[in-house]
Formats: sequence, C-alpha cells, structure tokens
Amino acid sequence: MHIIHLSAECYPAAKAGGLGDVVGSLPKYLNQHGEFCEVIIPKYRTPWLDEQEFDVVWESSAPLGQDYFGFTILKEKTNKLGFPFYVIDIPGRFDRPGVYIDPWSGHGYWDEFERALSFQIAALEWIRTFHKKPDVIHCHDHHTGLVPFMIKQCVRFSELQDMPSIITVHNAEYQGQQSMMNAEMLPPFIPHNYGLLEWNGQLNSLASALKCAWQITTVSQSYMQELGESSSGLEPLFNQETAKSRGIINGIDTEVWDPSTDPLLEHNYTIRGIKTGKKKNKAVLCEQFGLNPELPTIAFIGRLVREKGADLLPDLISHFMHSDKEVNFILLGTGDPSLHDIFARMENDHFGYFDATLEYNEKLAHQMYAGSDFILMPSRVEPCGLNQMFAMRYGTIPIVRSIGGLIDTVKDLSDGDGYGIRFDDFTLHEAEEAINRAIDLFADKKEIQRVVSRIAKLDYSWNNSAKEYINMYKELINLK
Ligand code: GLC
Repeated sequence: MHIIHLSAECYPAAKAGGLGDVVGSLPKYLNQHGEFCEVIIPKYRTPWLDEQEFDVVWESSAPLGQDYFGFTILKEKTNKLGFPFYVIDIPGRFDRPGVYIDPWSGHGYWDEFERALSFQIAALEWIRTFHKKPDVIHCHDHHTGLVPFMIKQCVRFSELQDMPSIITVHNAEYQGQQSMMNAEMLPPFIPHNYGLLEWNGQLNSLASALKCAWQITTVSQSYMQELGESSSGLEPLFNQETAKSRGIINGIDTEVWDPSTDPLLEHNYTIRGIKTGKKKNKAVLCEQFGLNPELPTIAFIGRLVREKGADLLPDLISHFMHSDKEVNFILLGTGDPSLHDIFARMENDHFGYFDATLEYNEKLAHQMYAGSDFILMPSRVEPCGLNQMFAMRYGTIPIVRSIGGLIDTVKDLSDGDGYGIRFDDFTLHEAEEAINRAIDLFADKKEIQRVVSRIAKLDYSWNNSAKEYINMYKELINLK
C-alpha cells in the first residue's frame, strides 16, 4: 500500500514533541512490514534540514485566498530516515527556525493559519498530479486537519475525492481555532458544506478533521475513551464519531533508543550488564550536577506546562527537600517562563539535591534516561507519552499518574507482574506517596534490580502497532 503521512513534525528534521518522534519512526516500521510510506513536512530552517541534500521534485504555485504562493517539493537524497522524505519549501512562511514558536520572542508565529494552510494546499496540489493516487493519506494533528475537508469538498482537488483520509490525534488540546472568516482562504468549496469547518462558531481544523476523515485514531485506547469525557469542547464530536474511531498505542524507535548502541551515552550497556551500565551512567550524571550518586535519583524530562503537570513539581520537590528523606531530583525541559524562574531559584536553595536544565537538549535527555533511577510523569493529560517507554528501555522505573497512555503502558507494582509506580489523583499528596514508594523500592536493592531487569526487557517497539495500522489501512481501502 502507498501511504502518505502529512505532518508538521518529523524527527530528526523538526521536532517539538512526541509527534515528531512518532512521524519519524512509524513510517519506517510500516515500510519494514512491506508497505510504502512517504512523509511530507514543511521545510523549516532547522539545523538538520539545513545540512541535508535535496533533489527538486516539483515546483508550482497555488492560490491562498486572493493571493498566490510559490512552493517547491524537495526530496532528501539518501533515504536515510528509512522512508522517502519530502519537504515543501514555501518562502516567506517556513524559512524560519521555529516549528511553531519564534525562538527569539518565545511566541507562536503570527501567520500560524496561513502557514498550515499553505502547506496542506501545496501537498494536495502535488499529490493530485500523481498518475496513481496514494491508497491512503494519513494526517497528524490539527496542522494537517483541513486536508480531509479539502479533498472531499474543494472542487480543485476533486481527483482526490475517493482517497481515504485518516486523522491521528496526538493532542486534542490544540485544535487550530481561527475566525470563520479565514475559511475564505481555502480553495473554493460547496458553500452548503461550510459547517464541516466549524465548531462552536469558529473555524476549527481538528474538529473539521474529526468530521471529514474516514478514520480517527488516537495514540492510546485510554486516551480515546477520555476524549469523549474531556477534550476542550470537542466531547460531543468525539462521542458522535466513535464508530470510525480507534486507539492505537504508539511505539518507540528501538533502533534510536537502544542503550547498547546509543551514541549519546557515555557508557553503553546491554540488558545483561544493566546494573553496572546504569551505575556508570549515574556516576557521570551525578558528577555533572554535583549530586550524591548513592541517593535515589528521580528525573522529569519534558515540556514545563500544565498538561504535563509541571506546576506540581515545585511543591513536590520542596516537600522532599524539607523532609528527612534523601533524594535527588533532576529536571530537563522548557516551557512556562514563570516555572523557569521558580526552578532557577530552587536550584540555589537545594544545591546538591536538585538541578534544573532549562533547555531542549536531546543528548542530556538520553543521559538522564540512562543514569536516573526513576522517571516522573505527573501529567494532567497524556495522550500516549513516550518518555516512560524510553525510560523503561533504559531500565529506569516510571512513576506516573494513571491517565491516557500511561495507563496502557505502565502496570503498577502492586499488580503481581507490575513494574512501575502509578498514582490516580492529580494531588500533591498522591504524588508524594508515589515518590515515597519509589524511595522504599530503591532501598530494597534486590527488588529494584528485579524491576529494572524486567522493564528493560519489555517490548515497546512499533511492531504490534504497525500491524494494527496496516490492518486499518486495508479496511479503509476495502471501503472505497
Ligand atoms: C503528544 C502527546 C503525547 C504523545 C505524543 C505522540 O506530544 O502529548 O502524549 O505521546 O503526542 O503521539
């Protein structure tokens, strides 16, 4: 089957979060299972994209409202990602360093809608010239959410009308809401169907995709259920569309995330050598941050935002810093500026027990997965979550809130064959209890070693989920 993935992110070309990891790995695994997947993203000015060599595939221009924009489709020369990788160069829109956010101002780009729409239109302009159309077009998140509408409703793309479309929801908090006036920027469509773009009086790209795509998927089954109860206003829509919805858990790229070969680690280790391997990496990590390697070390890696529960961390960490329990906390990420200030202050107050690196740092992230004992994810919302899987692959025990994909990937130690620590309510008290359990587990050297060995052997690769995607693609093609 020929499947085209359209996305705003794809690791290592452009990544802001887990969406990038998924789009950078799922197509590779689908291809290893015999499919033919290609990926298209915008051509940003990221360091990785600047370094690659591309062939020009196609050049054209297309209307955007009253204006026209020129664009070029480029293909990475070597197929190094494990799939044909295309970028669309749209001068004036994407020749900027940030994926969504301007790194200098810290704010989103002013023309977010025009950027996303021009990318989607350019992709469809190109695809409609294909002699043989793709079997499926697979869209990811709201940035590509207008594609299912445009291929069904815009006269310009009528050749693509029968092409099955999928929207995968990685995060329903972001929906791409705009004034309904912006609908005028789309290529002409049957005015009668204007409502397919609208939700609560606004143009809503994600809502439109939920209405128009042939299939809705989300990145875990638990999140799929939660969306019907809580999805920032889209609940009725998710409930209405259950017949075409399903949750498929994400996998991780076990080639990139392999402690025995990971080039970003100081000391590589196999499952057999995991005890000494982790000890050596922990020593490096603790030395770097001036921490005592004999203490349990708990890491938080990720965006410092409400959704990830980052606002719970200051009180939680302070509680342990003022208690008689000895524990290290290390933190890596960027986000809410007010949290940056708090963490910077706490670093001085709790020197020797707490360190915060307030930046995006892929290398340090790998070292933290390898050198920490526990990874903490107190998320309010977690569609899937990849960090707990990266951590487990490196023998680091997850402490997670029971939500979304964390429920589907982490089994609590109290469940006989369990291997992680879970807590239910988003409260300081429950999070403290979970950390107390981690500290107790750390003190039981035999038991913690047993858990570490167990988690490192779990299979979180894409293999199972890739098969589910393939079956779903086949079902869609049969519907045609
Ligand atoms: C988003 C979600 C995260 C998920 C990722 C990949 O970043 O917040 O939970 O793992 O997408 O699907």
